[in-house]
Amino acid sequence: MVQTLKWIEAKSYEEMSEIAANIFKEQLQNNKKSVLGLATGGTPEGFYAKMVEAYKAGEISFAEAKSFNLDEYIGIEPSNKASYHYYMDEQLFNHVDMKREDIHVPAGDPSQVEKNTDQYDQMIEEAGGIDIQLLGIGVNGHIGFNEPGTSFESYTNVVELTESTREANKIYFDSIEDVPTHAITMGIKTILNAKKVVLLISGQSKQEAYDRLRSGEVTEDFPASALHKHPDVTVIYCDVK
Ligand code: F6R
Repeated sequence: MVQTLKWIEAKSYEEMSEIAANIFKEQLQNNKKSVLGLATGGTPEGFYAKMVEAYKAGEISFAEAKSFNLDEYIGIEPSNKASYHYYMDEQLFNHVDMKREDIHVPAGDPSQVEKNTDQYDQMIEEAGGIDIQLLGIGVNGHIGFNEPGTSFESYTNVVELTESTREANKIYFDSIEDVPTHAITMGIKTILNAKKVVLLISGQSKQEAYDRLRSGEVTEDFPASALHKHPDVTVIYCDVK
């Protein structure tokens, strides 16, 4: 099949983070009202550090921007250090000028989840759609928390995490038993609706996922392969072949 993904090889994690930050900086400079789709995890930490640096240097402002995060665990409080609410505050929101009411992270509170799954895509649409979506990739090829087998037509929904995902994420918890079994995530269709996508892949543990994405195969068994259906995806990678 015709490969439409744009592949950029970075020499280091630092360079990968910088290239990604430059793309987002340009987006915000060209449109200060940009709607940003954001990801959590180990991979984008360097990216967020660069975005905070750029904000502090006066190169960008988030004052008129809006953000929508990909996902959140179900059943852990925003004050829990392993929650994605907490992560985002620490990595970005506490350090920049984005208005609290313009920040959206799916609610992991079980009593709010149903309302959120129904409304999240609608809220994104009302904001004008996501201009640029940041993604990482799971060792099993998940994007957001869309695990293998997820329909490419899915919208924001509740998912059960696979053992491989819980295993990969247990470093953020005291033990594997503490890792939630369920999460709320934007669906694959939600992600494909973003106008532009930037995917970061870093490290040997992602080698297999990288190879499979690079192969061009499109299958719901490998969620990231849905990105082959999107016209504007940039993959920035380092420390994989
Ligand atoms: C996080 C997310 C996940 C991660 C993926 C990789 O919001 O949606 O898909 O991007 O699990 O995580 P790291 O970067 O920790 O390897």
